[in-house]
Amino acid sequence: MTLRLTRREFVLGSAALAAQAAIPPFAFAQSAPLNPAPTVDTLVMKVLTDSSYDTPRVGASKWVKVKRVGLGAPGNFRKTLHNEWGLALALESRRGAESRNILLDFGWTPTALMNNMEIMGVDPSKAQALIASHGHFDHYGGLIGFLEKHRSSLPPDIVLYIGGEDLFCRRKASGAPGGHLTDAGWLDRRDLDRLKIKVVTCEKPTPVLGHAFTTGHIARRGFETVIPSQLVEYYPSDGIGCSIPDANAKAGGKPVKDDHIHEHGTCYNIKDRGLVVISSCGHSGIINTTYQAMEASGVKKVHAMVGGFHLFPADEAYVKKTVEAMKQLNPDVIIPMHCSGPTLLALLRTEMADRVVASTNGTEYTFGA
Ligand SMILES: [Fe+2]
Ligand SMILES: [Fe+2]
Repeated sequence: MTLRLTRREFVLGSAALAAQAAIPPFAFAQSAPLNPAPTVDTLVMKVLTDSSYDTPRVGASKWVKVKRVGLGAPGNFRKTLHNEWGLALALESRRGAESRNILLDFGWTPTALMNNMEIMGVDPSKAQALIASHGHFDHYGGLIGFLEKHRSSLPPDIVLYIGGEDLFCRRKASGAPGGHLTDAGWLDRRDLDRLKIKVVTCEKPTPVLGHAFTTGHIARRGFETVIPSQLVEYYPSDGIGCSIPDANAKAGGKPVKDDHIHEHGTCYNIKDRGLVVISSCGHSGIINTTYQAMEASGVKKVHAMVGGFHLFPADEAYVKKTVEAMKQLNPDVIIPMHCSGPTLLALLRTEMADRVVASTNGTEYTFGA
């Protein structure tokens, strides 16, 4: 990608990043794809699915209001949050009197998702758009079951925003006895057709409901690499899967390491605060995702970096590089969730203690209030 810069922009970009050995120089394009990016006054983010729950004592930050639901559902002590590997977020933004509701990812099971929506007071019928971050079952596994239960109460023309065709690819896991690959899930587009869900592909930055935006393709800019997890098939089989001929030719028609070519981030620009960047699983790198959000929007201030950063399998040296790059980006708040891992949290608590807020399932964050 070629960026045309004024001298001032070049100097600003170069100077800000001169000390940032881990990331190549970054500068803003004169004309960002979403300039002006949509701006909202506030964003309320509810963590519907994450791996663990903690007592209602929450982290503090002057930048974000934090609340957590109690151990049991109000009025029904037998009901409690279900914790499972994966991520699902309910996002409610406001601009003046106008509000918009988005569901971003759907966790592993519809059972946990819908149970936790009820406990956290998220009305399914209020959802106006759906976003899927990438093609891993722990993020879309709850989607079809949720739609089967609630499709009739959702807007008839509701859209599912996706990063690209690879959302539908079959994933494979290794490690089974005998060296066999086993299925690790797929999202069957025939289910979305049956449920009358319109799919919009966002390989470029895309506004969502005039309040949020997606990053589009996340460029790989620096030290971050996709840490191997599952394999991907870029060809359909048995009537399911994706078809990405270029990638399949490169892969030799076999399952290969998944580079998450169509993962995308979800972002908001909070008035007078800056960007809230949400990387649901962060395979492409939370630093790459954040720079992509900045480039897409032309907004230079990062207010919050939020979500799964996929650093749980990373070694300490790699996590340290990530923290150094976070310092350069200088966000007001960092909220690691899901797959971010304990090494990152421990480092942030020593290196950026005034910025980090530890998250659990059942937590509600309000930005911009
Ligand atoms: Fe993932
Ligand atoms: Fe994940």
